Amino acid sequence: MSTEKQPIAVLISGGGSNLQSLIDACEQGDFPARIAVVISNKPDAYGLTRAKDAGIPALVVNHKDYATREEFDKALLEALKPYAPKLICLAGFMRILTPTFIKNWPHRILNTHPALLPAHGGKGMYGMHVHKAVLEAGDTESGASIHYVIPEVDQGPVLLQSAVPVLQNDTPDTLAQRVLEQEHKLYPEAVRIAVNQLLNA
Ligand code: GRF
Repeated sequence: MSTEKQPIAVLISGGGSNLQSLIDACEQGDFPARIAVVISNKPDAYGLTRAKDAGIPALVVNHKDYATREEFDKALLEALKPYAPKLICLAGFMRILTPTFIKNWPHRILNTHPALLPAHGGKGMYGMHVHKAVLEAGDTESGASIHYVIPEVDQGPVLLQSAVPVLQNDTPDTLAQRVLEQEHKLYPEAVRIAVNQLLNA
């Protein structure tokens, strides 16, 4: 089995706190991956600063520059190719990828979702919408899910999950914070498992 760190790509749209947890994990000697490139669809994503501060190539492929989802995904594919990532990690990435894009990395795209899938997933269920839905449903727990990406939104096989309690006086913000802490713990472990599975395939 190769001891060389495998190149991965991280796609972001915002603050990049999940990206930061992956950057920190990749800096550990025994971690099997390195981040070859970070790409954001939003030019003002703070995650781009996190990447630059870590000396990681940081690109913008702005979805507003493309007339269709297919054209954006094609540009994203072209931007990724030179880095030959073995795994694509969506980390706070707010775009739905087309089946054409996903086909290029079968069982090699991971995503973090801030709920216990299959609960509270699917189109429109992202960010604060998720935590609001959990509170409105009166759920007693929520959590984070790291799953493989398939064309059906949030329906791919779950790799890791971690539950947190929903507290009586929770707001979407307080719940989001508690879930985010679990995402930060889970995502690096999920990448380690996924990369090792690729290496042992
Ligand atoms: C996270 O809860 C993620 O699941 C959601 O956006 C939140 C912030 O992600 N998609 P990040 O801080 O940009 O990684």
